[in-house]
Amino acid sequence: MSMDLQGKACLVTGASRGIGAAIARMLADSGAIVAVHYGSNKAAADSVIESLPGTGHMTIRADLSHPEDAGRVVDEASSEMGRLDVLVNNAGIFSPHPPLDVSTEAWLESWGGILAVNLISPAVLCQAAAKVMAEQGGGRIINIGSRGAFRGEPECSAYGASKAGLHSMSQSLAVALGSKNIQVFAVAPGFVETDMAKSLLDSDAGDAIRAQSSANRVARPEEVAEVVCFLASTGAEFMTGGIIDVNGASYLRT
Ligand SMILES: NC(=O)c1ccc[n+]([C@@H]2O[C@H](COP(=O)([O-])OP(=O)(O)OC[C@H]3O[C@@H](n4cnc5c(N)ncnc54)[C@H](OP(=O)(O)O)[C@@H]3O)[C@@H](O)[C@H]2O)c1
Repeated sequence: MSMDLQGKACLVTGASRGIGAAIARMLADSGAIVAVHYGSNKAAADSVIESLPGTGHMTIRADLSHPEDAGRVVDEASSEMGRLDVLVNNAGIFSPHPPLDVSTEAWLESWGGILAVNLISPAVLCQAAAKVMAEQGGGRIINIGSRGAFRGEPECSAYGASKAGLHSMSQSLAVALGSKNIQVFAVAPGFVETDMAKSLLDSDAGDAIRAQSSANRVARPEEVAEVVCFLASTGAEFMTGGIIDVNGASYLRT
């Protein structure tokens, strides 16, 4: 499926690999101009750009573990593309820190690092994007959360908390920015076939993880990208404030 996003200026963070790369490709397939943000993997970001149909795409590098620099990503994307219609906050990290196995210093360091990339930088990007979008008369913000916010993350509670925070921020901003014609969504995937999940999916735990869904598999990155493209499209306007599950019924929340 491909939506009509002809000429829409879109910024996708963490688009050098995985879900973000699939989102960038599907947005461009739908006619959008895409700013491909990456953290450290320039070669991968360049190869995503080369694979995109159309012209006007660009790469932007920024380490989102430094939230004070995150607003620059929006500034560069919007000045190069002339506007910003869609922001997808996709970049994220997961690193295990079982509560009883690490020192307080390591626990704090892990919490700080994960919250910086997964929640605080997206908050800065949202604020910068909202300013641009309000001036131009509207826009869409789509934040990639996680099933883990609902189901729990026993090996990485900071990850679960960061994603719960991202969901909550999306809902608050949907209310705060609605009068400016800015719609805000969160997408909450279960496991997805990417580098982030690879070691677990390839481990002895892989079969049990796939069996969490009655489809006996995890999501493909393109399945998350389809949902994001729909949320970026005209028809999704009144879904603002929604948190959309993409988990193959592996976890049903009330
Ligand atoms: N995979 C899953 O099972 C799953 C499930 C639920 C939710 N999610 C969420 O979906 C999103 C994408 O996940 P994924 O599986 O596609 O991850 P991935 O394959 O590990 O890719 C992560 C992306 O984020 C970027 N990134 C990481 N740290 C960064 C930093 N400090 N500064 C800037 N960019 C940084 C990476 O850029 P570089 O490589 O260029 O550094 C890369 O493009 C994340 O928010 C994740 O939490 C994933």
